[in-house]
Amino acid sequence: MKGSTLAMNKNKFVYTAFLAIAFAATFSACKDKRSTGLEYARNMYDPIAYNPDQPNKNFKDGKTAQLPPAHTKPVGFTEYDEYPNTKEGYEAAGVSMVNPLPVDTVNLAQGKHLFTVFCSPCHGEKGDGQGHLVKIEKFSGVPAYQTGSSSRGGNMADLTAGKIYHTITYGVNNMGSHASQISPTDRWKVVMYVQQLQKGQ
Ligand code: HEC
Repeated sequence: MKGSTLAMNKNKFVYTAFLAIAFAATFSACKDKRSTGLEYARNMYDPIAYNPDQPNKNFKDGKTAQLPPAHTKPVGFTEYDEYPNTKEGYEAAGVSMVNPLPVDTVNLAQGKHLFTVFCSPCHGEKGDGQGHLVKIEKFSGVPAYQTGSSSRGGNMADLTAGKIYHTITYGVNNMGSHASQISPTDRWKVVMYVQQLQKGQ
């Protein structure tokens, strides 16, 4: 009899103690509105590595985000320095650059798709220079690939692969560069398709 009363009291005590601790833990976070309260394993919140915007005493200028060393190249980056955005660069590209991709139905189909997305709004689906933007008079002076002439001399139909690639990369006058939208490999697919349009195919 005596023993069971003691056991009950012990249970009550544990229960009360538990409630008190839970209460304290819950409301300890309420003192300061900005406080996150009791945090368990704080080091799991803080990354060991520096965040890019954090001060960093390991570098002379005290910043974490450092510029990459000079001449660093991103993985997969293709150099296009030998054909600069000049008349000479354009002519040189026109003579020396060859399409590295085989002309096949897959590459042509992908080229056609990219052309439809990126070029046809101005150049027209058939490359006749009558794209949607030209029709609604938002754009003008788009030469037809089959019959037009290039502002840099010669017929549009005679533009070589390298000249078309150079144009996609840098743009020309009112036509902007498409280098950031179309990867080098995809540019060659577009070139392949434009060369079909030049022949009126
Ligand atoms: C915003 C309209 C516009 C878009 C989009 C556009 N072009 Fe052009 N493109 C022009 C205009 C305008 C010219 C004529 C520029 C000039 O020679 O003054 C031109 C000229 C060209 C030429 C002739 C360059 C030369 O050497 O004379 C080629 C080739 C060409 N574009 C290909 C493309 C391809 C391929 C795309 C898609 C990746 C494209 N263009 C997207 C407007 C556009």
